[in-house]
Amino acid sequence: MTRIAAVSGSRSADSTTRAALRVALDAAADAGAETDLIDLAAVDLPLYHPDEGAQGDSEALKRRVREADGVLVGTPVYRGSYSSTFKNFHDFCGSDEYEHTAVGLLATAGGGSYGGTLEHLRSTFRNVHAWTVPHEVGIQGASSKVETGGPADAAASDSAPRITDDDLRRRTERLGRIVVEHAERLRG
Ligand SMILES: Cc1cc2nc3c(=O)[nH]c(=O)nc-3n(C[C@H](O)[C@H](O)[C@H](O)COP(=O)(O)O)c2cc1C
Repeated sequence: MTRIAAVSGSRSADSTTRAALRVALDAAADAGAETDLIDLAAVDLPLYHPDEGAQGDSEALKRRVREADGVLVGTPVYRGSYSSTFKNFHDFCGSDEYEHTAVGLLATAGGGSYGGTLEHLRSTFRNVHAWTVPHEVGIQGASSKVETGGPADAAASDSAPRITDDDLRRRTERLGRIVVEHAERLRG
C-alpha cells in the first residue's frame, strides 16, 4: 500500500498547520493510502548538531520519512519563510529520506504572504532530491479559515479539523490526492 506521511512544522498545541495537513492526509487516506502524521510539536528533536549522530527521536523520525512514498509538508509562515521547527527537521533528513518521494507543500500565514515560504520549501526540497508536485496550498488568515478541532492533547482532539473556505478546502484535499498519485507513479 502507498504510504503518505505528513510533517507539521508548528509547535502550537492548537496548530492550524497541523489541522490543514490532517485535511490533506484524510484525502490521501480516502484515495487509498496508509497515512502517518509527524507532529513536530510532539517529538523530541534537539537542535541539529553536525558532530552528533542520533539525537532524541531523530532515527525513528527519519525512518518514518524514508518509509513514506509521499510526504505532505506543512509549516506556518514565520518572518516570510518556514518555521525554525521545520528547518531543524529539514536539517536531519537528506536525499536518503526523500529520493523517489513525492512531496506536497502547504503553508499557513497570518495577514501576510505565503509565497516566499512555499518557494523556500520548493528550492530546499530540490536540494534533497524530492519530487515536489506543482500543486501547492497557501492559507492566508489561517486562524479564521481553519477550525483545528482543539489542541492535540485535549479530549476534543478527536473532532475532525475543518477548512471553512470551500475553495481552500478543495485545494487542500486535492494536494493530498495528487501526492498519492505521484507517490504511486514513483513507486513504479
Ligand atoms: C514568530 C512568528 C512569525 C510570523 N511571521 C509571519 C509572517 O511573516 N507573515 C505572516 O503572514 N504571518 C506570520 N506569522 C503568523 C503565522 O504564520 C500564522 O499565525 C500561522 O497560521 C500559525 O500557524 P500554526 O497555527 O500552525 O502555528 C508569524 C507568527 C509567528 C509566531
